[in-house]
Amino acid sequence: MENRYGGKLHFGMIGLGTMGRNLLLNLADHGYSVAGYDKNPEQVQRLEKEIANDQVHGFTTLDAFLDALQSPRVVMMLVPAGPIVDAVIADLAPHLAKGDILIDGGNSKFTDTDRRAKMLSDQGLNFIGMGVSGGEEGARRGPSMMPGGNLEAYHHVQTMFEAIAAHVKGDPCVTYIGPGASGHFVKMVHNGIEYALMQLIAESYSLLKNGLNFTNQEMADLFQQWNSGRLGSYLLEITSVIFTVKNPDTGHILVDDISDQAKAKGTGKWTSQFAMDLQVPIPSIDIAVSMRDLSKYGDLRQQLGKQSNSERIWEGDRQALKESLERAFFFNLVLIYSQGMHLLSKASAEYGYRLNLADIARIWRGGCIIRSHFLDTIYTAYLRDPDLEHLVLDPVIQNMLEEGLDAARTVTAQAVTSGFPVPVMATTLNYYLSLASSRLPTNLIQAQRDFFGAHTYELTGKEGVFHTEWPEID
Ligand code: 6PG
Repeated sequence: MENRYGGKLHFGMIGLGTMGRNLLLNLADHGYSVAGYDKNPEQVQRLEKEIANDQVHGFTTLDAFLDALQSPRVVMMLVPAGPIVDAVIADLAPHLAKGDILIDGGNSKFTDTDRRAKMLSDQGLNFIGMGVSGGEEGARRGPSMMPGGNLEAYHHVQTMFEAIAAHVKGDPCVTYIGPGASGHFVKMVHNGIEYALMQLIAESYSLLKNGLNFTNQEMADLFQQWNSGRLGSYLLEITSVIFTVKNPDTGHILVDDISDQAKAKGTGKWTSQFAMDLQVPIPSIDIAVSMRDLSKYGDLRQQLGKQSNSERIWEGDRQALKESLERAFFFNLVLIYSQGMHLLSKASAEYGYRLNLADIARIWRGGCIIRSHFLDTIYTAYLRDPDLEHLVLDPVIQNMLEEGLDAARTVTAQAVTSGFPVPVMATTLNYYLSLASSRLPTNLIQAQRDFFGAHTYELTGKEGVFHTEWPEID
């Protein structure tokens, strides 16, 4: 059935929520004619209201939407991750033709993407699992995009995606990530890093506010100052603005009125779960996930807070802390990204993704939530040595860490002795100290395992596995 668009539109979007709608408008700005489909007519009306030219067309029926698209059709889904993606695919796939390209631009779990890619390729359809980062503003003005899956299909959409992506130093923040579900795996790790950076900022806020009695305006100023130096990052930038926004109902600064129980949609948790499966330690991300969970135990915290001797008095020089905190923050930031990149490098080998880590750092420099100046340093480290086992081994990064180590120790120690919880800072420091230990106390764990379970142990300087008949205990 021909409709009035005669199969001429370049791109179709299923799901016209904030991200889908803004991505379509971004495509239209770059000269592409686009079709948007949503079951909810209000979303279609909203899209049509925002149309600035005749490049954007809304549909409430799937048939008409699909008939409007040129062949091979390029259809992106931007719907909530999980069963809704499967439901959309089940509705859509029977109406698609061989060679059509289906893109999942949501935060899907990569194992789901693997399953869907196999199923769709059996039907002759080309599937791309693509991480999209940057929120509403990114989708509208230029996101960072992480497409993985069918390479030929990517080449078909490459020009379009390069046009709408954020650009840094002339480079588009999009590149083909790799086969299978690699795009969604990389986006998942992006989000894990996001969780840990957010927790790091929150801990710095706690020390400044409760330890040093900084006002909201002083915190806004300090974070803005940090943001103009080596800590420059989108997350610090938005944080400095948050401290200036008022709640119109109370006249307070809004953040002071917001509940401290933080929600999560799951990508951080998946990062930790899959890292554990791969036996890659990413403790700063793990603890950031746990802290969101712990925050939800509000009643328990209230109860214990009343009973515990949890007096918090800042011990130590205030001016000195302010100065050390910038250095400690940088030390933490470097190690948070390093843990994420380590996970990517191990996953790449395990899953055959052949990830180009320099390219990933490059496309994270703009558009996405974890964009920061430091990604330039990561990018050049992997350009110098694409096979770098861990970023801590890069000489430039190693110098940065050694330079920040004292401050990280001082801030963490003072926070702990003063009674302020700094879980990410303490965990990150312990990660580094352990990674830099040529001998860990895990020899004792080997002995214990063998004692109670005859699990055997290895010896230093002698090949083989050994078991000891340990003394009987009563
Ligand atoms: C992004 C964000 C985006 C989303 C997070 C929020 O890169 O644009 O990461 O994907 O805001 O998924 O995650 P939580 O709800 O789990 O904090």
